[in-house]
Amino acid sequence: MLTEDLAATVSPQIRTELPGPLARDVIERDRRVVSPALGRVYPLVVGRAAGMWVEDVDGNRFLDLNAGIAVDATGHCHPEVVAAIEDQSRSLLHYCSSDFHVPVYTELCERLAAASPMSDEVNVYLGNSGTEAVEAALKLARYATGRPNIVAFYGSFHGRTAGSLSLTASKGKYRSGFGVAMPGVYHAPYAGSDGSTGAAYIESVLFRHVTEPGDVAAIVVEPIQGEGGYLVPPDGWLADLRNLCDRHGILLVADEVQSGVGRTGSMWAIDPSGVEPDMMCVGKGLASGLPLSALVSRNRHSTWGTGKHGSTFGGNPVACAAAVATLDLVEGSLMANAAKVGSHLLDRLRGLVGTEQLITRVRGRGLMIGIEFVDGETAHEVEQAAFREGMLVLTCGERTVRMAPPLIITEEQADLSVELLSRACGRIGGGASPR
Ligand SMILES: Cc1ncc(COP(=O)(O)O)c(C=O)c1O
Repeated sequence: MLTEDLAATVSPQIRTELPGPLARDVIERDRRVVSPALGRVYPLVVGRAAGMWVEDVDGNRFLDLNAGIAVDATGHCHPEVVAAIEDQSRSLLHYCSSDFHVPVYTELCERLAAASPMSDEVNVYLGNSGTEAVEAALKLARYATGRPNIVAFYGSFHGRTAGSLSLTASKGKYRSGFGVAMPGVYHAPYAGSDGSTGAAYIESVLFRHVTEPGDVAAIVVEPIQGEGGYLVPPDGWLADLRNLCDRHGILLVADEVQSGVGRTGSMWAIDPSGVEPDMMCVGKGLASGLPLSALVSRNRHSTWGTGKHGSTFGGNPVACAAAVATLDLVEGSLMANAAKVGSHLLDRLRGLVGTEQLITRVRGRGLMIGIEFVDGETAHEVEQAAFREGMLVLTCGERTVRMAPPLIITEEQADLSVELLSRACGRIGGGASPR
């Protein structure tokens, strides 16, 4: 179905009760057959989507500040991405790039290598999801260093497969009931926590009490913490980690799965710090919605040989073609748009602090923005109320609502999102702060 009309929507359209009759039918069928492990945030049943707009199966239209959780970087069904997918799918759907050469796989790896934040030579491994990129990083870091231990951060999210889950430390429920996590993983407080954090904590607590640095293969860090609350570390915090790694021969792994591919107004969230990681994990926005991830690694650390890692589907040609088209768009104009509209949106949202009594703080960079509320319950209620106002947002951290829209968002749409957020606050009893 053509989606131009949907892309041209100017304001949310809520035509039915939510969920509407067709949505209720899907939800009921879904409840019977879909794994109970999946938690649905609100009763949104997506029918189609274009640009900044999502239409549910009943024809209700929502402004999308989620982008399918920071995935639909170029907006929904961007014509150039769709054309690349169509072209590629007419010539080759699959041929297992772990065993054979596929030109578009090579092309994407060239593009990622050229865009990497490392100044020396790198190579690229492609997987299907963020967690696969993290798993690859864990294996390679241990293999390359011959060391067993890994340091990650409280609040972090790196995935839910057995290895990455051992690093994930955002919510206890992700781990509980699954037995012992991967041994040798230690956590430090992320920037912004009370007391000592980052390199200082690792050195004074972890290296002193639980692991000597010579046993640590890697420190894995989100340059801006995502699920943990869209936390931006202060200047120098990442550089201190780099310094610590250099002193002890530890590899620094940047998990850019959520923050990468132009979202923060630079190609990678680590870029403004000037810090070069040894490895970088990429996912989510890379292929505008098709499943694809990447581990970018310095050549000097890629000591593993043939057969040490691989995947049947990783680097699927259609996903690679979507990624090449995505990088064209992001490098062409969308990264700059993320910087420009992101700073406009941040300013507008910061203007609400002090006037909207429920909002305590706004932080972020580019189009990775966290709006902190007085408590977690309020953040949750705002998320739900925003849905009813026709805007899709998601909570993160303890009491934060995140905005991670497609990078195509305009200033007018950013202004609209601020208006919808204010209305959502109004719905749950927010409003002007008492003076
Ligand atoms: C920083 C980060 N790393 C890894 C992952 C895992 O990615 P996936 O869900 O594609 O496995 C996520 C997902 O939210 C993430 O935000």
